[in-house]
Amino acid sequence: MERFSIKGGKKLKGDVVIKSAKNSVLPIMAACIMTNETVVLKNCPKISDVFSMSEIIKDLGGKVFFDGDNIVINCADVNPVSIDASLTKKMRSSVFILGPVLSRFKRAIISYPGGCEIGARPIDLHIGGLIQMGVKVIDDENEIRCDASGLKSGTINLRFPSVGATENLIMAATLSKGETTILNAAAEPEIVDLQNFINTLGGNVKGAGSTKIVIKGVDTLSGSEYTPVCDRIVAGTFAEAVCMCGGKVFLKNADKKQMGSVIRLLEGCGADFIWHNNGFEVIMSDIIRPCGFLKTSPYPGFPTDMQSQTVALLSIAAGDSVIEETIFENRFRYVPRLNKMGAKIICKENEAFITGVNTLHGAEVDATDLRGGAALLSAALCAEGESTLFGIHYIDRGYEKAEEAYRALGAEVKRLSD
Ligand code: EPZ
Repeated sequence: MERFSIKGGKKLKGDVVIKSAKNSVLPIMAACIMTNETVVLKNCPKISDVFSMSEIIKDLGGKVFFDGDNIVINCADVNPVSIDASLTKKMRSSVFILGPVLSRFKRAIISYPGGCEIGARPIDLHIGGLIQMGVKVIDDENEIRCDASGLKSGTINLRFPSVGATENLIMAATLSKGETTILNAAAEPEIVDLQNFINTLGGNVKGAGSTKIVIKGVDTLSGSEYTPVCDRIVAGTFAEAVCMCGGKVFLKNADKKQMGSVIRLLEGCGADFIWHNNGFEVIMSDIIRPCGFLKTSPYPGFPTDMQSQTVALLSIAAGDSVIEETIFENRFRYVPRLNKMGAKIICKENEAFITGVNTLHGAEVDATDLRGGAALLSAALCAEGESTLFGIHYIDRGYEKAEEAYRALGAEVKRLSD
């Protein structure tokens, strides 16, 4: 069984290259279905969620391959009868296929993407928005059959600024007739990135990054070469690991403009930063100060995808902190594993009450989801003694060869499988 073997206590020093964001690359790969010309996506991470999305696109008849760190995609031969249920179940992000397939082919059949370790992950906002755009939806619990022959422009008001629903609806409107407006849209940097990418293809999307996005439908799209934004969550994960272990690390490509809430938190915890035009250095040589109260919220609030890593960081702060998770209903499953390493955290409903301890100790623990796994890895890197971390396939979903990146910074971590 694959696992990481970690000997904690080493300071982290050196450079790490942050690649394009998983949560940008996935919807952008799906958006390539809307054009039959070739797209080259640059500086992409070799992570399992990207491989799964690649399988889904190939299953539909598209061509996808890695050329170094670039992904080359051509969807001229995509001919969707339906999206293979097994692939859809394999990954949440397959729901992103719906918008682009409806945009280009005006019909689609997908199975429910299903929940995951952090929550039920419903798609009612995606489906509700499509219905408001004139899509006929037959939902028989297993499959969702969509007829978009009547796809029209309109105004969609999202009950919640869902990232995926915003992205799906942008893509559905890209090749539809007329002008579509999305109100209460999500404003994450990855939404802006999708807008910018679609516009390089010849699309007409405006307003991403605000709560109001306007899409003017076009007839066809071209190809493009595009570098998606840097992964602010991977950058934040490494930055918090430096704060936990101590040391000085340069995060190449990291963009401080997209990481304001995380940087402010880490400055409050005692980290120093040196800004460069192609990234920034994180320096930690002091005790970790607690943060008092922190809650996750939609961008530009504190990102839910940094919640687990931040609880791990605050578990060794010189004082108490409280973190409220407002986005997902089941995103504290890693906490009992942290407590097994000596943390003192009590979870009540969607809040984690953290009593800072001096140090964690090594243990045998298992990851239960992507970001919870990243948090446990950081905890093992700073703990006293040896740890074994199972369930590392979760970490591989969003971090490329995490053990190699940390080893290059001086950590003692290796991947074992037998
Ligand atoms: C995206 O998921 C990200 N995934 C998530 O990253 C991220 O945590 C999330 O946005 C929030 O920022 C990708 O981009 C591939 P949502 P998404 O729709 O689109 C509820 C990671 O670790 N909701 O904004 O699924 C939902 O249950 C992953 O990289 C509905 O109720 O997130 C959740 O409570 C985890 N109905 C909240 O909205 C819907 O139709 C936020 O979900 C859709 C969502």
